[in-house]
Amino acid sequence: MSVVPPACLPRLTVIGTGYLGATHAICMAVLGYEVLALDQDRTKVEALASGVVPFHEPGLPEMLRKGLDSGRLRFTTDLAEVAAFGDVHFVCTGTPQLPGSMGADLSQVESVVRSLAPYLFRSCLVVGKSTVPVGTAERLDAILQEAAPSGSDVELAWNPEFLREGHAVEDTLRPSRLVFGVSSERARLVLEDAFRPLLDAGVPMLATDLATAELVKVAANAFLATKISFINAMAEVCESAGADVRDLATALAHDDRIGGRFLKPGLGFGGGCLPKDIRAFIHRAEELGTGHSVAFLREVDAINQRRRSRTVDLVREEVGGDLRGVRVCVLGAAFKPHSDDTRDAPALDVAAQLHDAGAEVVVFDPRALDNARRSHPQLHYAGSALEAASGARVVALLTEWDQFRALDPVVLARVVASRHVVDARNVLDARTWREAGWSLRALGCADGP
Ligand code: UDX
Repeated sequence: MSVVPPACLPRLTVIGTGYLGATHAICMAVLGYEVLALDQDRTKVEALASGVVPFHEPGLPEMLRKGLDSGRLRFTTDLAEVAAFGDVHFVCTGTPQLPGSMGADLSQVESVVRSLAPYLFRSCLVVGKSTVPVGTAERLDAILQEAAPSGSDVELAWNPEFLREGHAVEDTLRPSRLVFGVSSERARLVLEDAFRPLLDAGVPMLATDLATAELVKVAANAFLATKISFINAMAEVCESAGADVRDLATALAHDDRIGGRFLKPGLGFGGGCLPKDIRAFIHRAEELGTGHSVAFLREVDAINQRRRSRTVDLVREEVGGDLRGVRVCVLGAAFKPHSDDTRDAPALDVAAQLHDAGAEVVVFDPRALDNARRSHPQLHYAGSALEAASGARVVALLTEWDQFRALDPVVLARVVASRHVVDARNVLDARTWREAGWSLRALGCADGP
């Protein structure tokens, strides 16, 4: 390639303004870059351009305001404008699980590359951020080279994103590491320019090949999922052995080779990443003929699913074995606190299973009610925890929002029909609740009422 790395900051575009893309676009503008972000959804683009973040992410609305006020952040639906504007194009579209398969649906990422390529008349770097099966980047690079009018002046790189929902701003401004998957020195230099403020601030950077960069992301999520399922497998053993998984986890966490993060026992992982990423990993490894290497991830997934059915069983046991006609208060719908994301949310999955077993389920969540209503219209929804608990025979705490941890068992006792609580996230103080007359069951503890 005959391109000299830009002397000043490159102009960035971000394609796809979901949780990942919107955060990336906004934060990069705040860091000093000229950013043009694209989404095909006009409503989303209009919301963002007018200063409204269309999902819940702490701190992001303030950053959006800053970005817009700086004059460096714009939003569009016009791909040709994006192509003409950008030195670096970040592709941030979703890669959800394919219906009826464990594999990832790459149609959005692929379609972005295919539609962008014919407009690329100038030298630029197209950078994938989405989580993809290993080998995707190489394939997309071939598509780009073939379809872009500027030919080899256009190159593909991969820069996996590790941000956690609920901490997205912090994770974007102060990431634990930057991984650059590149095929040339020129691509590495352009990426360095695209992350200059972070590199200057000392964020560790690893430059590697495309395949390794793709795998880093998948391996990281597989490891995190495995850690959670490990402690939840111990929870199953504790339940049978009469032990307490919370004490077990605390004792393990003191060993700094193990560490306490992602070792919280409970209802397990959900969301738009971990569940589908481990499935896509298994699928891809099998395609590559190395399925045995990650076969353990099937068990990681199975353990995670069993926590959901075990929670339904605990609720059923609390009401004597039959859920038909039983009113159950479900606290939580988001896949984790500080998010309104309900994709593969364990809480909603449990709520739906309770509903299918005949229970009358009333759900409350501080942020995720709109998304929950859309995906699970069969459930009832309440405007507060107290309203959801009113008349309930069992209260099930399924997402560990702070306001649920802080619930006063004495106050709640006044509105429920009977005092049974299932703590699927291990966050309630069992003694306080029992002293207030509640029968408390928690995942990973043998003790009943
Ligand atoms: C994850 C990865 O952490 C992030 O690096 C990647 O970029 C995207 O996927 P996210 O999906 O936002 O991020 O959520 P995360 O905070 O990782 O939590 C995932 C799930 O695990 C949640 O449902 C959470 O409740 C659950 N979890 C987490 C546990 O059950 N126990 C734990 O100890 C930690």
